[in-house]
Amino acid sequence: MAFAGYTSRPNGFVFREPVLHPHIIFRRVEFAMKAIAVLPGKPNSVHLRDIPVPKLLDQPQPHVCRIPDGRAVLVRTLQIGVDATDREINEALYGNAPPGGDHLVIGHESFGQVLEVGSKVTELKPGDFVSCTVRRPGGSLFDNIGRNDITSEETYYERGINLCHGYLTESFVDDAEFMVKVPVKLKHLGVLSEPASVCAKAIDQAYLAQQRLQVWNPKRAFVMGAGQIGLLATMMLKLRGLDVYTVATRPGPHRKQEIAEAYGATYVSTRQTSLQELTKKVGKPDLIFEATGNAEVCFRSMEVLAHNGALIWTSITGGKHEVTLDAAKINIEWVLGNKLLVSSVNGNRRHFEMGIAALSLGELTYPGVTERILTNPVDGLDNYREMMRLLVEDKDALKVFVNVGT
Ligand code: BGC
Ligand code: ZN
Repeated sequence: MAFAGYTSRPNGFVFREPVLHPHIIFRRVEFAMKAIAVLPGKPNSVHLRDIPVPKLLDQPQPHVCRIPDGRAVLVRTLQIGVDATDREINEALYGNAPPGGDHLVIGHESFGQVLEVGSKVTELKPGDFVSCTVRRPGGSLFDNIGRNDITSEETYYERGINLCHGYLTESFVDDAEFMVKVPVKLKHLGVLSEPASVCAKAIDQAYLAQQRLQVWNPKRAFVMGAGQIGLLATMMLKLRGLDVYTVATRPGPHRKQEIAEAYGATYVSTRQTSLQELTKKVGKPDLIFEATGNAEVCFRSMEVLAHNGALIWTSITGGKHEVTLDAAKINIEWVLGNKLLVSSVNGNRRHFEMGIAALSLGELTYPGVTERILTNPVDGLDNYREMMRLLVEDKDALKVFVNVGT
């Protein structure tokens, strides 16, 4: 977005052109705020830039995000979480700028406080805490019935990821339709609303799909991966009463193991116990939630699923990864065992509500555990380099998030 008097340097700092008239300086400062952006397609282009401060009646770009009259909400950003998607966008593996521009403001895991609402917004008021969904509707039937999370169009619009600016900025405006209230007592976990929505949706999709069986009462689950998604899925499956094994590479003791165990799950390191050994020991899982980001694990998980079971894939795996496996064996076992693969991405407002409800119940059931996921706060948008460094280099960072406002 071009803004008179301001240019930004992708190599790190915001450059303000010299301005002579003090009145003009005053007006320009008033209308500009900081944002963390990338130049999609250009590796390591993360930078800080000035963008215009949005006003309630402004329309976000592109046009697909047009807010109906009176339904806008202006939000002050409090915290924004970042994940592997943001890292991959900065590596130029993913993501596109809104049409007509060359930069993309990143950040899709939002948490903020309402400043102002439009005349037709009754469900939110100034002071409320909110998180926003990520995907915006395209033109398919699914988009038209509020299921933009399962759009059938190849092109999808996602704030902070694809074709729409994100939330790593001081304030933003969006349609009330895409904002979900976070209870005041949950505000310390508000930044986990988006990842929680992804987990809640994926699990819900599996249960919905398993209605094909008429009766499905899963007892045992393997969660593959102990990142933020793996741990939140662990919590949600424990809340549903399953016997959960959270499977990751590194042997404990470490924070991931402690969190999984505090939720009542068993942590398993595949360096100590292979997936096959685990299955032999505890039995085949009725449900597998795959969230490692490793394409081989997605397929290896197929080898251990129980009859009538469901395997959920949530990993987004960039690049190329070839795997050798016994396809005939998997095929016959899957056909004779009526097994199901469910893939799941994104979440609409119902899934955010489910995710926030699960975070709330999790907090009542396992008080103080979920906040241990929030390992790496970064103070202020100015520290964007540190944010990206943590994402790229710190393998122990469970959740990196930026404290934007207070
Ligand atoms: C986001 C999802 C999004 C997906 C694909 C994930 O990191 O959390 O909301 O749909 O990337 O772009
Ligand atoms: Zn994400």
